[in-house]
Amino acid sequence: MDESRSRSTTSAAVTTPKLAPLLSYLDGLTGPMDLSVVERMLGELDIARGDVASSCVFGTKGYKRNTISRGEWHELVCICWRSGHCTPIHDHRASSCGFKVIEGVGTEIRFEQSSSGLICPVKTTRMEPGYVCVAEDADIHQIANMQSAGLDLVTLHLYSPPLCRINTWKYAEATVEACEQDGAAPLYD
Ligand SMILES: [Fe+2]
Repeated sequence: MDESRSRSTTSAAVTTPKLAPLLSYLDGLTGPMDLSVVERMLGELDIARGDVASSCVFGTKGYKRNTISRGEWHELVCICWRSGHCTPIHDHRASSCGFKVIEGVGTEIRFEQSSSGLICPVKTTRMEPGYVCVAEDADIHQIANMQSAGLDLVTLHLYSPPLCRINTWKYAEATVEACEQDGAAPLYD
């Protein structure tokens, strides 16, 4: 095993004790988390924007991912969205994904691939604070802050293993593009 990959890295900026039990659990992982565990742990988390204030950094051209902790089997990220920020339509390839809405109201649009190859929107969900959204690796979706100008969206995302590759999809086009993520940019949820 590559030791450099097995060692977790946690942002020194995060000081909230509320995340300590989760970070300790994530640091001890020896394999990928089951999606039901991701959902339960996020659901049990009692957290507000003030608890992750040091990880609340917004982008100017789009949503911004702020890594809190990353190890071989997990990635914990605080994502900040201004009004109008949204992800591309994407899946998560080999990672299970879950996130909790900390502040604001998010919107999730789910898609399914039709037999023609075109993707079709099948469900839209309004996500209030406290809402936990989970997605299997093959699920196709788009997340957005569709609130009015001035209303922020802050979400806490847990991936297992870390999100390194995704597929992006284009509505009304039967094409898919594989994208590599390396922690720099572009970064999708
Ligand atoms: Fe996603």
